[in-house]
Amino acid sequence: MKTGTQRNARFARRLDRNVTRGRPLEFTYNGQPVQAYEGETIATALIAAGHWIFHESQKNSEPRGVYCNIGVCHSCLIIVDGERNVRACQTPVVDGCRVETQRYAERGRDEKV
Ligand code: FES
Repeated sequence: MKTGTQRNARFARRLDRNVTRGRPLEFTYNGQPVQAYEGETIATALIAAGHWIFHESQKNSEPRGVYCNIGVCHSCLIIVDGERNVRACQTPVVDGCRVETQRYAERGRDEKV
């Protein structure tokens, strides 16, 4: 059985055959640089870089990431340039944007999203 790290290493890739990509872009995720291509969503770029946890649930601070990837479930909420509740699966990467994990504990548990 593969460990979580082995699975992440296998999936932390982009297809490289028969794919036309946009120009290279870079943004930061929790202060670390992430490479992306024009036209990719933030979720795609983060997963390609091996990041699977985008926010912590409001209840119990459980890790959440992409679930539906079509903008319905809100499991991929992140902070982009200070704006909370951005759906990573529906938001294209903008060169130089600053993306952060969304944690509810930082705002207090009584506050609604
Ligand atoms: S993964 Fe469901 S809304 Fe983004």
